[in-house]
Amino acid sequence: MDRIRIVGGQRLNGTIPISGAKNATLPLMIAGLLTEDTLVLENVPRLADVSQLQRILGNHGVDIMIAGKRPGENGNNGRTIHISAKNIVDTTAPYELVSKMRASFWVVAPLVARMGEAKVSLPGGCAIGTRPVDLLIMALEKLGAEIEIDGGYVIARARKGLRGGEIVFPKVTVGGTHTALMAASLARGTTVIENAAREPEIGDVADCLNKMGARISGAGSSRIVVEGVAKLNGARHAVLPDRIETGTYAMAVAMAGGEVLLQNARPELLQAALDVLAKTGVAVTPTNEGIRVARNGAGLAPVDVATAPFPGFPTDLQAQLMALMTRAQGTSHIRETIFENRFMHVQELARLGAHIRLDGDTATVEGVEKLKGAPVMATDLRASVSLVIAALAAEGETMINRVYHLDRGFERLEEKLGACGAAIERISG
Ligand code: UD1
Repeated sequence: MDRIRIVGGQRLNGTIPISGAKNATLPLMIAGLLTEDTLVLENVPRLADVSQLQRILGNHGVDIMIAGKRPGENGNNGRTIHISAKNIVDTTAPYELVSKMRASFWVVAPLVARMGEAKVSLPGGCAIGTRPVDLLIMALEKLGAEIEIDGGYVIARARKGLRGGEIVFPKVTVGGTHTALMAASLARGTTVIENAAREPEIGDVADCLNKMGARISGAGSSRIVVEGVAKLNGARHAVLPDRIETGTYAMAVAMAGGEVLLQNARPELLQAALDVLAKTGVAVTPTNEGIRVARNGAGLAPVDVATAPFPGFPTDLQAQLMALMTRAQGTSHIRETIFENRFMHVQELARLGAHIRLDGDTATVEGVEKLKGAPVMATDLRASVSLVIAALAAEGETMINRVYHLDRGFERLEEKLGACGAAIERISG
């Protein structure tokens, strides 16, 4: 198992290219199941989760071709992938595959919409809380799918096809909204989705579906209307930049000090997080090329933040902000409102000398004068990267074990940080 070794204390200076968003790439790849034609996705990040989903889709008979490098391209460009679901040979997604990546449960929607049936394993446990799929199932039922749960599988049937309906989500859910959008695109009649998630990745998927011939309006707002069509066609779509990767590197620069251009980043995708960074005293400047982040000398001010659905502060940046606040000059409060139990990073940050007290859904972080390197363990994707951020400012060496979590969601992290002056290396084996 690979490890990452970081020696803290180096400032970061230079440019970090921001990759395509993981959380848009996964549903976009799944949307490829909706058509017999080829869906071409550009700016696809090189991530373990993308390879894993490729295997899962392959099991359904989907052909995925990854284009070779074009002349003039370097490793910083995202890849172009061609997805062809001409022949769906199997509508079952087995436990062994779905349990490795929760988002793969989302195949249930395009499979039942196009093929009239799907049998998809329930995802099972997850390190950050229970994460149920009841609302995804509710959305499919509202569109006329018959649902049965048997032996750990969700079996969805709509022999005569899905029909439009009204879906009112009692709680904002990204996966639920993706499910509703994909299913409604091929349903007969009109679907109205109320209290839809407004995350930018929803808008990106809706844009792509519209290029494929879907008739979706209102994506990006909390009320989405979908006029179903009989068939979708192929399209070409470039994945939007990753706002979580952007926010993560912005916090890394805030922690280490220095000045970095986050190339291709778009400020409107993470305004709430940039506002929080500005409050801590970091200079955040949007430019034509991306976002420039700088901290020179001054200390960090503490902040009080609660996570919330978009456009609020994202839960996927909560661990990174907590790492940053371990060095603030004062006490911060960070409240997690989306996922219970998303605090596994707290114990690991404590190993580096952080002072954090947990009380229900709120963490109280008392800034300390210095952190000290130690061996730590990556637990989930975002928790792992919070340890990287802390390690950048810790005295001496931090060894992060189990970095496969990082590889799921961060493309070439050690290269990107290393190129800006971080003392970071991957130790294989
Ligand atoms: C997506 C993101 C994840 C992010 C999360 C919240 C992807 C691949 N993953 O996950 O990185 O942290 O959004 O922004 O895009 N819920 C239910 N019932 C359901 C579904 C969800 O109660 O059927 C609850 C969840 O437990 C959670 C909340 O709704 O408390 C939001 O979850 P949701 O937005 O669905 O998260 P994901 O789509 O799984």
